[in-house]
Amino acid sequence: MIVPGSASQEVAAALAAELDEPLAPVEYERFADGEQLVRVPETDDRAVVVASTVSDRAHVELLQLQDAARQQADEVVTVVPYMGYGRQDQAFEAGEPVSARAVARAISTGTDRVLTVNPHEPAVRDFFDVPCEPVDAAGRLADPLPALSEPLFLSPDAGAVGIAETVRDAHGAGEVDYFEKHRLSDTEVEIQPSDAATADRDVVLVDDIVATGSTMSTAISQLEAPARVFVTCVHPLLAADARTKLANAGVDAVYGTDTVERAVSAVSAAPAIAERL
Ligand code: R5P
Repeated sequence: MIVPGSASQEVAAALAAELDEPLAPVEYERFADGEQLVRVPETDDRAVVVASTVSDRAHVELLQLQDAARQQADEVVTVVPYMGYGRQDQAFEAGEPVSARAVARAISTGTDRVLTVNPHEPAVRDFFDVPCEPVDAAGRLADPLPALSEPLFLSPDAGAVGIAETVRDAHGAGEVDYFEKHRLSDTEVEIQPSDAATADRDVVLVDDIVATGSTMSTAISQLEAPARVFVTCVHPLLAADARTKLANAGVDAVYGTDTVERAVSAVSAAPAIAERL
């Protein structure tokens, strides 16, 4: 039975349909002090909890869903389509936590195995105390793209070039390149242009995550006279005014998957997750 988190109802429903498994009804209650209670009245022998940890509240909800499921199911599998805090995978100064490790350990306590979609750093899997498998949902990001003219698939840094290659391969043709990026702060990045010519070409910017939109909007500002600009990513967090930043930068369309449920989530990660379950 699929047990959906409140922020992952689309991907959970799509996964239930893929696997032909029922969806557990989850009841929610909020106490006067702000704390939340979840209730999972029924599961079967295997409970698959599907919850992106897009907020601190979603983290707590995931732990609650696992605990409720654990009391009824023989096996609990946890699917974290988008793993929050996954980018905090190192301590840069003494006294800082490795937040990705802290949340991975907490998630491990309530489950037999974990699946997570396109983690920002594959090494975060090692932070879990139970087996953690990555799921690659990037292959379908090419699906919503229109027909492209002389396409150039660009990632904003070397770390995401593999995803850009996956999208290019799924599209069928095109050049792949990447920028050199230096992060100045949480919301500011510096980007060196790539060598690839962009004039009169359709450019598809590809990344694992669009969070504040600073990376993508800065990348777009480096393009010289492109025909059209598309932004595609696995995790469309689109925090604060990110969508507005992209619109003002001149993007023609934005696409992402349903690991984070947004208006741009045109692609489902469910088929890729289902293959691993
Ligand atoms: C970082 O290396 C990631 O791949 C993304 O480029 C980054 O998380 C995007 O963040 P933002 O949208 O805030 O620039």
